Amino acid sequence: NPFLYGQKQPFEVLAIAHRGASAYAPENTMVAFKKAIAMGAHMFELDTHVSKDGVVIVFHDDVLTKCTDVAKVFPDRDTYFVNDFTYDELQKLDAGSWFVKKMEKINYTKEERKLITEEDVAFYVSGKVKIPRLQDVLKFAKKNSCYVNIEIKSIAQFYPDIAKKVVSLVEKEQVENQVIISSFDHYEIVKCKKYNAKIATAALCSARIFKPGTYCKSIQADAANLKLVTFGFHSIRFRNNGQLPLEPVQNSIKEGIKTNVWTVNDPKQMEVLIRSGVRGIISDYPNRIVRIINHL
Ligand code: G3P
Ligand code: CA
Repeated sequence: NPFLYGQKQPFEVLAIAHRGASAYAPENTMVAFKKAIAMGAHMFELDTHVSKDGVVIVFHDDVLTKCTDVAKVFPDRDTYFVNDFTYDELQKLDAGSWFVKKMEKINYTKEERKLITEEDVAFYVSGKVKIPRLQDVLKFAKKNSCYVNIEIKSIAQFYPDIAKKVVSLVEKEQVENQVIISSFDHYEIVKCKKYNAKIATAALCSARIFKPGTYCKSIQADAANLKLVTFGFHSIRFRNNGQLPLEPVQNSIKEGIKTNVWTVNDPKQMEVLIRSGVRGIISDYPNRIVRIINHL
């Protein structure tokens, strides 16, 4: 597995599409993953939950309201938590139409806007965009030789066997060498390694870690995935002359751990981070990372 600790990655810097190409297609859906690959992303990231009847599904939020029409389809339910719905019920939902409203608020460049065609929009509102099963996404990854970052959502304590289920699916679809499993819940990472040490893992860190490399090794994480605001960029932008405070990422790289950063959408920040030695950028705009990598 090229993503294991000490192994050479297939690309010097990975362009990782956050929830797929989520600025261009409904997040965490097959069309977003396909778009990411078409844009030249090396890897796509996705989030996992477990349905009421035990199916690992790909979705970010704990509730279904933002990214589906659940309130329309199930008006009598009191709550809309993902894991209160069976997989068959989830398949009744439209996971695409909501995105067209979101698109209107995104500031694309002229060139970027052309990356969404009229056919794309027609498909997004067709009712055919569905919440995928992890198994189907992994089948797609196998068939198309894609790399996938599978995030186990941090409410994993509600899904006592999610790590086991995810690892079993990775094994079943024989994509052990194509995936990284990450989580904010680092206990899940330890569990994944216990189930299959050959699968690469990453610790999602939204707070600064004193010794990132030492820490990651202690929980058997092969990479540190750091949150951009961990650098305090948003709060200290004006005090710091607009510069990214790079100390956390530099410490992480110095300690020899592969370091990826999310969610980076600003091309200038992407460039600074790549020059600093990060091994992956996770972005809603994978096209921007690809462009910068090709020009450096
Ligand atoms: O994997 C990085 C990032 O996806 C973690 O945050 O909330 O977008 O899942 P979130
Ligand atoms: Ca995620």
